[in-house]
Amino acid sequence: AGYVAGVMLSDEVHSGIILDYAGKAIADVAIPRRPGADVSLVDEAERVFLKLAMAAGIGMEQIDSLGLGLPGVVDNANGTILWSPIMQARNVPMAELLSARLGVPVEVDNDANLVTLAELWYGAGRRVESFAVITIENGLGMGLVTGHKLYRGTHSAALELGHTKVQLDGALCRCGQRGCLEAYVADYALVREASVAMQQVRGKPVPAQVQLESLYDQAKAGNEAARTIFRRAGRFLAVGLANVISLFDPELIVLSGARMKFDYLYAEDVLNETRQLAVDAGRNVPDIEINAWGGLVWARGAATLALAAASARRTARP
Ligand code: BGC
Ligand code: NA
Ligand code: ZN
Repeated sequence: AGYVAGVMLSDEVHSGIILDYAGKAIADVAIPRRPGADVSLVDEAERVFLKLAMAAGIGMEQIDSLGLGLPGVVDNANGTILWSPIMQARNVPMAELLSARLGVPVEVDNDANLVTLAELWYGAGRRVESFAVITIENGLGMGLVTGHKLYRGTHSAALELGHTKVQLDGALCRCGQRGCLEAYVADYALVREASVAMQQVRGKPVPAQVQLESLYDQAKAGNEAARTIFRRAGRFLAVGLANVISLFDPELIVLSGARMKFDYLYAEDVLNETRQLAVDAGRNVPDIEINAWGGLVWARGAATLALAAASARRTARP
């Protein structure tokens, strides 16, 4: 006893962290996703938790609570993954399956909800009544806190900002539909744009794996096509932010996720465009903060869920 562990599954690299009750990090891991449709999500989660315990040099029996996050719709109350097109999962009773394997209670939630929970406990969310977190990486996620609590919706399916529609018959999204916000803003959308634009620029096909990092380097070096790709994504992001403001009027919006290290290319423009698009000509625009916690922001979110659960059990103990 004495520790909690959090793991965030993602389509590319899983991450995990072990914390003590003071919130101090004992160990962390980053592990590439195992490819293949036959790899079960429960196997993946188990593998990362075991590697994490190994990295910390502790046994599972020393961990009081496990928190797991992933992209998709999760019923946090019973730990069931309802729908995750990105992780190819539907109706997986994850908490039940995983706790049976590892012998430790498991809590599960949507990844962006967990980043929001971490902001509520440790970050900018401590000083406001209501705030939204928007994460940008290979997907676009969101969490919303009102009255110091996460808002989840009737079917735990709320705040899927990445799949709100911003274009009729628009770009194809990873969810299978068209015109979703993330199909214009997320990492995969930029890489997809790049492979088209760079082909036009050079007049020959580019290698399939045009990665965002190199696109960013080119944009920094003044490549117009690369800059345009970031700018266009930024304009769509402003549409998303303005819609969030018009819907929820939060006190604060936190932008988070790995994309934030690229922000300076378009942050100012995005904020200006957001102000123009929001109702009442931008007078109601909330503070917008950029979170720079780095890559561990996801794992920390998952560990915060574990910490919350373990603390609740401790308090409930007679
Ligand atoms: C998923 C969300 C997730 C977000 C960030 C989206 O594609 O639908 O559930 O929070 O990506 O990973
Ligand atoms: Na969410
Ligand atoms: Zn979508």
